[in-house]
Amino acid sequence: MQKLIIHGGKRLEGEVAVQGAKNSALPILSAAMLCTGESVLENCPELSDVYAACQILTSAGCRCQMQHHTVSIQADAIQNSEIPESLMQEMRSSIIFLGAMLGRTGSCVLGYPGGCELGPRPIDLHLQAFQKMGVRIREENGVLTCTAPNGLHGAKIHLQFPSVGATENIMLAAVLASGETVIANAAREPEIVDLAKYLKKCGACIAGEGSGKISIQGVKKLHGCTYRIMPDRIVTATWLAAAAVTGGTVRLLQADAASLEGILDVFEQMHCICSHTGDTICFSAGKPVRAVRSLKTMPYPGFPTDAQAIMTAVLCTANGTSMIEETIFENRFRHVDALVRMGADIQTAGRIAVIHGVRTLHGVPVSATDLRGGAALLVAGLGAEGETVLTEISHIDRGYDSPEKMLRQLGAEITRV
Ligand code: UD1
Repeated sequence: MQKLIIHGGKRLEGEVAVQGAKNSALPILSAAMLCTGESVLENCPELSDVYAACQILTSAGCRCQMQHHTVSIQADAIQNSEIPESLMQEMRSSIIFLGAMLGRTGSCVLGYPGGCELGPRPIDLHLQAFQKMGVRIREENGVLTCTAPNGLHGAKIHLQFPSVGATENIMLAAVLASGETVIANAAREPEIVDLAKYLKKCGACIAGEGSGKISIQGVKKLHGCTYRIMPDRIVTATWLAAAAVTGGTVRLLQADAASLEGILDVFEQMHCICSHTGDTICFSAGKPVRAVRSLKTMPYPGFPTDAQAIMTAVLCTANGTSMIEETIFENRFRHVDALVRMGADIQTAGRIAVIHGVRTLHGVPVSATDLRGGAALLVAGLGAEGETVLTEISHIDRGYDSPEKMLRQLGAEITRV
């Protein structure tokens, strides 16, 4: 079992390029299944979740090759519309293949995604939307059999909550459906816009992405194309958080500051200095940073739930008391116990965490419990005095491409053993 050993307290300095976005790469890999001809996806992060997505494509009969952060997918020979249970379990977000599989083959058999480390992960919004589009769904022993005997047709769908995955899944099913689909209360995350940009380059007819109302006019056929995946905004936020806990000064290259709305605001409230030109973000933090009175996770353009844990890690050593409210997922404070063992003063009650800043954290052995919670412990370890031994890092490897290499480039003392 691999672990990361961090000798904390080193001020981070220097520059590093930001990887491509996992949450954009996954739906776009799924979308590639809808096309004839080859799609070439550049800037694809090399991560266990991306490998799992490639395995789903391969098991469906696609040719899928990854080399140097470029994945090429040829989906002309799809014959199987079943997502293997093992891959469903390996990656909860494999549900994102349902819409594309239905759009391409008119059927899909997959395991029901149960609870995950963030709490229950329902898919009711996805399924209700597909039913409106003409899909029949049968559930037996945790297996969902979805079929569209008369093909998929467009529909007016109002989402009760702007779910990212449901919005993407509906878009994937709608691009080849007959007629128009309108998604009201759609998610507005930048990764939705990235998916729409790829699909449009393949010939899809989509309008309104990035707003709360997306319209999709189905087309007969999509063709593959070459597309560059957007930079990962949560990884960007993680490297900024790492700089903030060490009082560092960093330049992040190949980043997208526009997609970090809501995150850069919070760093500014902490009295960090951020500026950007083109695709470079310049960032500098004094030590300690200032506490943030109140922070609430919200759908985009609000503060993202995926950045909550890493921000909690930064606020542990801020000057003053901060309060964080998690409104998106039920079980997203699992990193707090480990932070407290490192010396943090945090109280949680339900969806609220109150963080009283302490002078410093201390390195101790800690385990990652989920992807972003693990990244929070990594950030905390970089700012802590002494040695942090971080285990269960397979969670971190789901979303961070060579994190130790990136951090060493910024001067951190970190090794993987
Ligand atoms: C995506 C991201 C994840 C991020 C999340 C919220 C990917 C691969 N993952 O996950 O990193 O944390 O958005 O920004 O892009 N819900 C329902 N019923 C549904 C669907 C969702 O009740 O059918 C609820 C969820 O339980 C959760 C909330 O809606 O409480 C948000 O979920 P959603 O936006 O769907 O997140 P994901 O797409 O799973």
